[in-house]
Amino acid sequence: MKKRIGILTAGGDCPGLNAAIRGVVRASYHLFDAEIIGIRGGFRGLIEGDYQPMEESQFSNILTRGGTILGTSRTPFSQMRSNGDGPDKVAEMKKNYRAMRLDCLVCLGGNGTHKTANLLSEEGLNVIGLPKTIDNDIYGTDFTFGFHTAVDIATDVVDRIHTTAASHGRCMVIELMGNKSGWLTLYAGVAGGADVILLPEFPYDIQKVAEVVETRANLRKSFSIIAVAEGAMDKDEKDMKKKDREAARVESPYNSISHRIATQLEQMVGVECRTVIPGHIQRGGTPCAYDRVLSTEFGVHAAHLIRDDIYGVTVAVDGRSIIHNKLSDIAGVAKPVLWDGPMVRSAMGLNVSFGI
Ligand code: F6P
Repeated sequence: MKKRIGILTAGGDCPGLNAAIRGVVRASYHLFDAEIIGIRGGFRGLIEGDYQPMEESQFSNILTRGGTILGTSRTPFSQMRSNGDGPDKVAEMKKNYRAMRLDCLVCLGGNGTHKTANLLSEEGLNVIGLPKTIDNDIYGTDFTFGFHTAVDIATDVVDRIHTTAASHGRCMVIELMGNKSGWLTLYAGVAGGADVILLPEFPYDIQKVAEVVETRANLRKSFSIIAVAEGAMDKDEKDMKKKDREAARVESPYNSISHRIATQLEQMVGVECRTVIPGHIQRGGTPCAYDRVLSTEFGVHAAHLIRDDIYGVTVAVDGRSIIHNKLSDIAGVAKPVLWDGPMVRSAMGLNVSFGI
């Protein structure tokens, strides 16, 4: 019996989305009689009924392509139930799922996507999740696809900054993505040999950061590299309510956390500082080999789940095994960098400072 599979990619894009789509589709065609319906622009497409049946040829030559051939959008989970700006979105999604006569819906996305996927599963739809995000912050999986490519890109930034920092004897503050999570900055900071790594999980003391920069200057290491996550905060901000912290940032004269740290260090230590913000470059371009493999493994595992009618789950990697977790067990659960985790321990072993 033919299975009709709807696929969508939601939230911020990342390298590996197309490789994962290809994995699901190719393995499905191989394992059973499959028909693929591409839903455009993430959950927006499911809400608005923007979809099209796809041909096998449309999935050719996409393994190495960055972004997503299906398009994506951010449709906040908090607004899924609200009908203030139109019809109830969940009801619309269920209606379109039925209009497409889907046997299942495959949702490629991050934390928000998994919350919506879980909601749709609770509403009775057959849903499978695939965890993507450069933030690597999805609970229950060692890694998300897209993460390692972003680490490679961010590491290249740190490497290149090293040579110019050393030539000028400057302190360089590199601000990396990751939203509220520090995984990307931790990995790129260690891989690129940063002297200081500042993460949202460990609120920093600027005095401690200044001491590192000053000590290095006194040791005639005239430059310092600071990798700071965009979501990092100092000890004072940690004690503030989120609303107050955000308001204080809007009112502050600094347009980013890296700008604030650089200005403070210039004043406190008297070193020349510069900031670098690679931004969305970290999400762009072709996936690295690791992500191509992981995306493919995730996609093929999803096809096996569809063949076996196993729904309400998301695919994950645990050590060298590809597994699946219940959506209800992982949706909305955080995966922070842990102080006693192996990466932090290794960084501490190298005398890298976390500013605490
Ligand atoms: O979740 C991925 C991510 O790149 C975060 O690291 C970052 O905070 C956010 O998306 C940026 O979102 P947008 O692409 O909507 O600006």
